[in-house]
Amino acid sequence: MTQQIVENCIDLSNSRFELWSNFLNSIKAKNLAELGVYKGDFAARLLKNCDSIEKYYMIDPWRHLDDWNKPANKKDNIFEKFLSETKSKTDFASEKRIVLRGKTTEVVEKIADGELDFAYVDGDHTLKGISIDLIRLFPKIKDGGWIGGDDFSSTVWQHSTKFEPTLVFPFAVYFAEAVDAKIYALPNSQFLIAKDSKQSFSFIDLTGDYDNIGLREQFIPDKISQVKNKQRFVFWRR
Ligand SMILES: C[S@@+](CC[C@H](N)C(=O)[O-])C[C@H]1O[C@@H](n2cnc3c(N)ncnc32)[C@H](O)[C@@H]1O
Repeated sequence: MTQQIVENCIDLSNSRFELWSNFLNSIKAKNLAELGVYKGDFAARLLKNCDSIEKYYMIDPWRHLDDWNKPANKKDNIFEKFLSETKSKTDFASEKRIVLRGKTTEVVEKIADGELDFAYVDGDHTLKGISIDLIRLFPKIKDGGWIGGDDFSSTVWQHSTKFEPTLVFPFAVYFAEAVDAKIYALPNSQFLIAKDSKQSFSFIDLTGDYDNIGLREQFIPDKISQVKNKQRFVFWRR
């Protein structure tokens, strides 16, 4: 079922915004959470495109985090502006919006277990972040619901090597196996986990980009030198 819906949505979509709007319209999602909201662009698009949405939790600390070594980590005053931007972009749906300002661990318990039809995970993409987010969000999803997410990057060196590696992939695959759920790799570095007690684990790669779910090849010194050399070359050509 999910696979058919997802394949139709992929055919109809040219971006992750379209993909998730089409998916949420197909499943008639009512209760949603977005984890990692930033300037509110994704939230605004979904709230505009999907009439079925009744409740939209927005989880984000909107503050500088000393232990988050990623390019999206900005100063407090910038995050303050991003929160205002998010609010003004989604004011048209203010009665549906619930702003939970804080890290996942600080606010996720405001959502009841089994309350969500769908959650979109797009916060801290390091191993620490994705493990906390999937483990803490999964109980909040109803049986028959879904977790989608961004930055399912086939390389852990998504950003320069001076940042922490991105480990949404393969961690989300390991997580799906642990909870015996199906996980789909989708275009535009997206993933989808189906929470369904009647189904069991499998990894369905609809892109062909994720044949090796191990980490050894990405962390061997030769590979890291190659990535660093490419970074230097790109910097030098600017
Ligand atoms: C890539 S941005 C999100 C982009 C947004 N989903 C979109 O599509 O427009 C990542 C966000 O994750 C938030 N974040 C980082 N660590 C977090 C944590 N531990 N818990 C919740 N959010 C976190 C950051 O504050 C930042 O706003």
